[in-house]
Amino acid sequence: MNSADSSPAGLAPAHRALSLWRLRPFVQPYLGHLTLMTTAALLATLAGAVLPLVTRQVIDGPIRHHDRGAVIPLGLLALGFGLVEAVLVFLRRWTMSASALRLESDLRQALYRHLQRMPISFHDHWQSGQVVARTISDLSQIRRFIGFGLIFMVVNSATFVIVGTMLIITDPPLGLLVLACSAPLAWIMYRFETGYRSRSRRVQEKQGDLATLVEESSGGMRTIKAFGRRDLVQDRFHDQATRLRDLELGKVRLLAMIWAIVESQPQLLLAAIMLAGSYPVVHGTITLGTLVAFVALFLLLVWPIESMGWLLATAQEASTATDRVFEVLDAEPAIVDRPHPMPLVRSTGLLRFHNVGFTYPGAARPVLHGINLTIEPGETLALVGSTGAGKTSLAMLVPRLYDVTSGRITLDRHDIRDIRLTDLRRQVGMAFEEPTLFSASVRENLTFGLAGATDDQVAEALEVAQAGFVHELPWGLATRVGEQGLTLSGGQRQRLALARAVLGRPPLVVLDDPLSALDVHTEARVERALRAVLAGTTGLVVAHRASTVLLADRVALLVDGTIAAVGSHHDLLAGDPVYRNLLSAEAELGAAS
Ligand code: CTP
Ligand code: MG
Repeated sequence: MNSADSSPAGLAPAHRALSLWRLRPFVQPYLGHLTLMTTAALLATLAGAVLPLVTRQVIDGPIRHHDRGAVIPLGLLALGFGLVEAVLVFLRRWTMSASALRLESDLRQALYRHLQRMPISFHDHWQSGQVVARTISDLSQIRRFIGFGLIFMVVNSATFVIVGTMLIITDPPLGLLVLACSAPLAWIMYRFETGYRSRSRRVQEKQGDLATLVEESSGGMRTIKAFGRRDLVQDRFHDQATRLRDLELGKVRLLAMIWAIVESQPQLLLAAIMLAGSYPVVHGTITLGTLVAFVALFLLLVWPIESMGWLLATAQEASTATDRVFEVLDAEPAIVDRPHPMPLVRSTGLLRFHNVGFTYPGAARPVLHGINLTIEPGETLALVGSTGAGKTSLAMLVPRLYDVTSGRITLDRHDIRDIRLTDLRRQVGMAFEEPTLFSASVRENLTFGLAGATDDQVAEALEVAQAGFVHELPWGLATRVGEQGLTLSGGQRQRLALARAVLGRPPLVVLDDPLSALDVHTEARVERALRAVLAGTTGLVVAHRASTVLLADRVALLVDGTIAAVGSHHDLLAGDPVYRNLLSAEAELGAAS
């Protein structure tokens, strides 16, 4: 997944250009603005480049001939160009960041939108930290390049061409000398870039790994503390953090080396110009003004030369970041609508599994195979099986959180893959084993799947789930829960998740072990209320206890990924030893109720 650098090292610059080229659609809306800014920067450079020429006129004209009067117009001209340059620089600086920030935000939203469209199987395989690093730090790197690096690359290249030409025109022999001495620099830059590429990629990978570690440990803080393994986690983090530091240091070393080479280059060249330039002045073949102009022009090249290493590094990082971002964007959302999906307003609730098989992506063995089941409209089917039998997997197939890998599931006799996905999911109310609450109010959490729910619907759902406790929270339904809010108990969370699933009475309810975290009294009350809800809808309920099983009309026993038996609770209890074994602890309880 996190494919390392696979392109041959020598192709780095080409690869970089190709990667960055992929940002095209995102840059498009700001192209006008960027062009304007680049033009402003170019004009500023040009205005700056004119100054040495004016200087030459001043030295060779008025100064040489002691003509004070002529200095004033030339001085004013220089002042004018200086002012133009200042205004243009200000304009560019002022507007430069705006486009880049907007572009970053666009990309980030596109990425997030794409992540939302990806099936669960994608998230199973991607470390969350890698996804976080890509949506946060990689995108900032791209922004830095587009908002700053890109413009300067264009401007600096243009400066090289313009000033280089002017140098040759001003004094051909000296100009050619400067050009000849610059050639090795280009070669060094090229070598530098290939080395920098693989290093920056490794650093970015490592940042993702580190983000994953932080995320996991903050999520698993209770486990870490309860087992007293703070030092273990600490050590692991220390290892990774140190490795990141070493990688970064390697990068810095390379950058420092290139800085040293690049920094010394202009000084050496300047010395060469002075030496080579003083002879013709002394011998009168060129004027003093020409030499001064030449040096002044050359000084314009110092910053572009010095910044080249840094700019290439920024470009390189942005290109790596682009690769990483597009690795996510290129992943095809596997579960999507077919070309002409069937709309479905309200299903009758007839759910069928036709010889369904399912293998997790990348797994060797199927989790489910040969599943044949029919749940009639209004019927409730309990799904019982030992842990790891595939109950959750089967439940997730219904709203297409995963797609079957063989056979088909039909709703109202239509293959669920033909039904418009949003419609399908609106038919199914689902509660998971581990209920997730978002950082939002209780009400927002409840109406997550039904944004326009009325107060009556919310009250009814809370009643069914016996979640009246929400009214006793400090701000009632407006209380914030989830990571940034009040922490609820496992049972409370489960009841909210249950209320969310039954809100608006969807025609199909899929409950994955909905009562596991409830105490006996609450469980009895939730069961009574659930019975009322399930009476009106089709239900698929994963159950571990006899008391939950009794909510259902029929029971399906899942053994090793396939349906071993279907029947009433009492029939199975009497006739199936596996079933009896599974529910034995509660068998008496079940018989008694
Ligand atoms: N599995 C998998 N990849 C996943 C989820 C599950 O390979 N993303 C595998 C598990 O390792 C397990 C099998 O699928 O062997 C069935 O998992 P599951 O359907 O979750 O089992 P349940 O019957 O729901 O088990 P439990 O009662 O413990 O919830
Ligand atoms: Mg499960």
